Amino acid sequence: MPGMHKMRQTLTRISWLGFCLMLPYWLPFLVIRLRMWIFTKVNGDEGVQLPNDSIDAAYFKQIYEHKNAGGRSRGAALSDLFWYWLSPGPEMHQEHLENGERYEHIARITRDVLAVPHHQIELLTEKCLENVLAEKVTRPWQMVRLRDLFMPVWAEFYYELVFGQQCPAYARQLIVANASDVVNALKGCSLRHMPQRSRLTHFLIKKLQAGAFPHAFPGEFTVEEQAFYLQGTYFNTAIVQMSEAMAHTLMAIAHHPAVQARLAATPNDNHYLDQVITETLRLFPLFGIAHRITSGPIDVDEKTTIPSGTVLCFNYPAYHQTGYDQPEKFIPERWEHLSPKEAHYIPFGVYGNRSCPAQRIALISIKAATPMVLKQFQLISSAAHTRSMPNRGPCLLLARQAGLPYPFRQAVLLWMRVQDRWEDVYHSLLQLFLGTFMVWHARCLQLTQTHFARQVSAEKASI
Ligand code: HEM
Repeated sequence: MPGMHKMRQTLTRISWLGFCLMLPYWLPFLVIRLRMWIFTKVNGDEGVQLPNDSIDAAYFKQIYEHKNAGGRSRGAALSDLFWYWLSPGPEMHQEHLENGERYEHIARITRDVLAVPHHQIELLTEKCLENVLAEKVTRPWQMVRLRDLFMPVWAEFYYELVFGQQCPAYARQLIVANASDVVNALKGCSLRHMPQRSRLTHFLIKKLQAGAFPHAFPGEFTVEEQAFYLQGTYFNTAIVQMSEAMAHTLMAIAHHPAVQARLAATPNDNHYLDQVITETLRLFPLFGIAHRITSGPIDVDEKTTIPSGTVLCFNYPAYHQTGYDQPEKFIPERWEHLSPKEAHYIPFGVYGNRSCPAQRIALISIKAATPMVLKQFQLISSAAHTRSMPNRGPCLLLARQAGLPYPFRQAVLLWMRVQDRWEDVYHSLLQLFLGTFMVWHARCLQLTQTHFARQVSAEKASI
């Protein structure tokens, strides 16, 4: 029977080999399920996801825009996690300030900073992108991670927008380090590194003390609070969101050669570019969920009322998947006869409830940057394109005047695909461990609850 034994051994080896080779196809999926389960276990199941089985997408906007859906941070355990990721100074982040006078002051300063003429936004985008491309893309064909490529572009852009001066290399490095740290932690790919983030806070405090910020803050904000505001809005949110938006736009274009060919052949067709960007932000909305805490009951219909104190979780990707033909497909042409205002489409939030103040500037910048990249490069990618994009958008930039022999190009694509699938296994395990740790750590620190408890004691003491 030694023959049978040998055969059994060979079969076992083949099964193990098959099991290992198939890892990229089942492990990441399982790990995501496990992460969701752990998240619910640690944080509790406090949120009501919308849309859901009993409240469908038809009510989504009406509830989001309801006057009682106004609480931002207070009263939700979920806020602890967002505050943890956005530290330092999450209590000064516009997105997380409760409605009231302080919020109004901050929102006004943001409006002032972002009120820049259209052509100036285009010029600044072009200048910053040109600098970074010249510095970072030096070969006729080069592998890049799109998100990483764009971080320094927006660091230069927002530094100049905020301080009215060209961004020095040292500041750019601090800003990119801060924004990368935030986004990597948010995606569970790395832990937070607070000393790294604090270096930017100290730098901003010095800039403010030197009078470098040309907009006047009302008197009640300390210099540290002002620095937290600048860091949170411009050197964290703006850099992260813009780099992600550009990476999604270019990844979508790289994955759809016909779309790319049309954009490259008709660089002045703004209408089609609009459709491509609209479809990108529909299929890959940057927000997974935005949450609100209800300050009073919300009547949905005669039978359903959402009680006061409910944590509402508005699920953007789920909402964007309703009301379309073939919603899972990337079809820019669908916007030919469809208006974003009438569709289930809210990539920048809802107007009635603190939508994104940077919608205009963000869209002008993306529209200026995309044709510039396509004029110089052909984009090629075989890496996965998912909404959370933990792979940071791997892409081959091939200079338009350069050629790449067909077999070589195919080999690059194959290599990229294999590398990406295995990276996905690595990322999903990393996200499982680091994500679980951060959810637990945020729960222990209870940043939101501590902040509001302190505020209540201070108010009592002053009476
Ligand atoms: C394509 C890029 C961007 C997208 C898709 C986007 C998306 C959003 C969304 C969906 C919201 C609303 C969230 C909610 O309802 O809770 C929001 C809020 C906000 N965004 Fe953006 N954003 C982008 C770029 C930016 C940039 C560049 C900045 C800064 C310059 C910025 C600053 C803010 C702020 C401060 C808020 C909070 C508004 C408030 O509560 O008053 N965003 N963004």
